[in-house]
Amino acid sequence: MNASSCARERDRGDRLPGTRMERVLAGLREWPKRIEPIWFYDPRGSALFERICTAPEYYLTRTEVSITRADAPEMAAALGPRVVLIEPGSGAGLKTRLLLEALHAPRAYVPVDISREQLMATTRRLRDDFPLLPVLPVCADFTEAFALPKVALHEEARRVVYFPGSTLGNFRRSAAIDLLRRMRAIAGTGGAVLLGVDRVKNEAILERAYNDSEGLTAAFNLNALLHLNRELGTDFEPAAFAHRATWVPDQSRIEMHLVANRRLGFVVGGERFEMARGEHLLTEYSQKYTLRDVADLARSAGLDVRRTWSDPQDWFSVLLLEPAVPE
Ligand code: TRP
Repeated sequence: MNASSCARERDRGDRLPGTRMERVLAGLREWPKRIEPIWFYDPRGSALFERICTAPEYYLTRTEVSITRADAPEMAAALGPRVVLIEPGSGAGLKTRLLLEALHAPRAYVPVDISREQLMATTRRLRDDFPLLPVLPVCADFTEAFALPKVALHEEARRVVYFPGSTLGNFRRSAAIDLLRRMRAIAGTGGAVLLGVDRVKNEAILERAYNDSEGLTAAFNLNALLHLNRELGTDFEPAAFAHRATWVPDQSRIEMHLVANRRLGFVVGGERFEMARGEHLLTEYSQKYTLRDVADLARSAGLDVRRTWSDPQDWFSVLLLEPAVPE
């Protein structure tokens, strides 16, 4: 297992069952073949991802940052004082920083990340910039159950799960609902979820965001194969695959594929797989939402939308969700 990762070899929810190797095998036996997005995130993948976020075509981060910059005071007021902010999949965190600056006497910040390097880098930076704020990292795969630090469980603390970046859209519907349910459980009855989601919009804008001209998203997508080769001793030839990201209107999502540019084969855990020329591996979904979609999804997880903040073009939204009051 990767020294830099802290994923436990155990399955939850609707994910593929078994060890990492078994999960990869199960995904490759599906049609279309698929590999789980966790394989994007080794140190190189995390670095590429940070660069994607600043690519001119990739409007998501910029837009969410602008919403956060404009509305953090309102968000902070709505969240209230003494919040313990828990962030699954903590990134480098400009948005987080803006939010933490606006919060009234936050109790602690709990970044949760599968990559130990990423987590430690985030923690160091935040400790430097917020010397009075306890930063309590948790190294875990946030799609599985993880233990919270003690302060987060203190009665007076208001637990807020912060899930920006439209990361929810990278999960299939049932997994997204499971994840929201888990967040609701972490927040508890008095807590909240602050969720960033990308909105349905013009197809050309969407496709461009996932096909940046510098090829960063392509490199990021292909990096999953290098990561697999290194970790599981597979023999994927990245040069035989091409990045493809397309808008699928009837599913309202971008799908990321790795397309075989010739007939090819590879061996995983002693099992041989073949791909025809033009056949693809599915690597990720990026669901785009209407506000109605998000409200429905939240409802299915026992959460109600309390507030919505959007940019002037309605490209992206940040929503405050709270546990639904039973009727
Ligand atoms: N959640 C963001 C999105 O869907 C970021 C992201 C996750 C992403 N995986 C990605 C971006 C793969 C590009 C490629 O856009």
